[in-house]
This record gives sequence, C-alpha cells and structure tokens, in this order.
Amino acid sequence: MHPMLTIAVKAARRAGGIINRAAQNLDLLHVSRKAHSDFVSEVDGAAEDAVIRTLLEAYPNHSILAEESGAQGDPAKSEYQWVIDPLDGTTNFLHGFPHYSVSIALMHKNIPTQAVVYNPFANELFTASRGRGAYLNDHRLRVSKRNQLADCLIGTGFPFREFSNVESYMAIFRDIMPKVAGIRRPGSAALDLAFVAAGRYDGFWEFGLSPWDMAAGCLLITEAGGLVGDMDGNATHLQSGNVVAGNPKIFGQMIQVISPHLGRDLKMS
Ligand code: IPD
Ligand code: CA
Ligand code: CA
Repeated sequence: MHPMLTIAVKAARRAGGIINRAAQNLDLLHVSRKAHSDFVSEVDGAAEDAVIRTLLEAYPNHSILAEESGAQGDPAKSEYQWVIDPLDGTTNFLHGFPHYSVSIALMHKNIPTQAVVYNPFANELFTASRGRGAYLNDHRLRVSKRNQLADCLIGTGFPFREFSNVESYMAIFRDIMPKVAGIRRPGSAALDLAFVAAGRYDGFWEFGLSPWDMAAGCLLITEAGGLVGDMDGNATHLQSGNVVAGNPKIFGQMIQVISPHLGRDLKMS
C-alpha cells in the first residue's frame, strides 16, 4: 500500500472507532443544526480532529480541507491537500441507520491520488491509489458489467437542505424511474460512490455535493473501471458539485437522460 494511503487508513480507522463508540449511546449526543435539515454532532468534530491529527503528525506541511473546520495550512507550501468528511451521513448516524462513512482523499496538484471511504459499522474499508486500482478490504474492485439501464440499480441523493434545484431533480427522477430496475437513496454520498466502485449499484447521481463528499468516492470509481463526470459528462464535477457516475456503459445512458434537463435551475459548471 502507498505510504500516504496507509496513513489515511489509520486516520479513517481512528475516526471510525470514535463513531462506533458514540453509536452505542446516541441518546447522549449533543446535536446542533447548521441549517435546515443539516445536523452536526460532537462526533463529527471529534472524528475530524482525530483524522487531522493523524494526517498532520505524518505530513505536517500538507494542507487540509475539512467539512467542519474548513481549510488550514498554506497550499502554496505543499502540493498536497487532504480533503476530509469525518462523518458522511450524519442524519443516518443520528438515527441509528447504519449507512455512514469516513471519507478522506489526498489531492496532489488538485488531482485525487489516494482515497479512503470507511464504513465503521460494517468494517468495510474502500481504498484506492491513482493508477493502482481500488479495493474493498483485500479484494480488488470492479464496477458492474450491466449494460442496459432496464437491468440497473441506481443510487441517488435527494436535495435536502437546499431546494433551488428541486424541480429539475424531480424531472430527472421521473424520467429515470421507469427506465431502471430500482433507485436507492441510502444517504452517504461517499459510501454511495464506493458502492458504484464495488458494483453494488450500476450508477449514481446527485447534485450540490461538496468536495469532501465525493473526492475519495470518485477516485474509487475510476480506479474500479467506472466513469464519473458532471451532468453533461465532462470532468468538472469536483468544481460544480454535480456528479453522475456509473460503469462505462451505463454512464453514457444516464447522461442521455439527465442532460436534457440542464439549463433551467440546474446550471452546467
Ligand atoms: C451528506 C450525505 C448525503 C448527501 C448530502 C451530503 P453529511 O453529507 O452525503 O447523502 O445527500 O448531499 O451533504 O452532511 O452527512 O456529511
Ligand atoms: Ca458529507
Ligand atoms: Ca459530514
């Protein structure tokens, strides 16, 4: 394993330990609301501190972009930046709904090069290094081989705190629903993207994500042989926050369904 990935795994497992311990006593948690439907608990902060401490112990000059504490370090001093979501799927976590993850990506000159998505409840560790493939625990991952939308299980994320795109989202949803075998909305974008890499879904789409929700998951998918892009299929998803992903056959078919809905409230990057 690449040494930087080894450190990221150590950081993710530490955060996972904090999350698992807290999950045993959810009633004791202090929860606050960042915005409508956007909750944060002390676990998010504690997990994030553990991740950042572990990474900076090993790489003190690297810079950080983390969901709860923001940016730190001088990107001019280092070509490396860690992008961290310490607990992706906080709403699930707070409800004891076991689909949440720790997501850590290393960007080198703005390109994702190492990725960890860790599901502490299931002890599933998804990792990838650029050019070296993606793994679930010790098993090499490949995206699914299905090539007809009608056979596909597709993941998505509903708009839930910001509703400016909701009309376009619903139009896309209506359009996709009868064309596929099923749609799921489990509630952790990072883990959902990891599921595409693992072939558990054949495709995924969500709008309005942040870099920490998707940087790691996107590398997992490309290293597992899948495609990721913006709603128009271009590689601008990390900037726009809008992501479509899938195995190479299904990606193009999803773009065909989604792209006619661009241009109203949904803008291209
Ligand atoms: C959220 C989850 C959710 C997705 C949201 C994210 P958080 O992350 O990934 O599935 O729909 O867009 O913000 O707030 O739980 O870290
Ligand atoms: Ca998130
Ligand atoms: Ca989070």
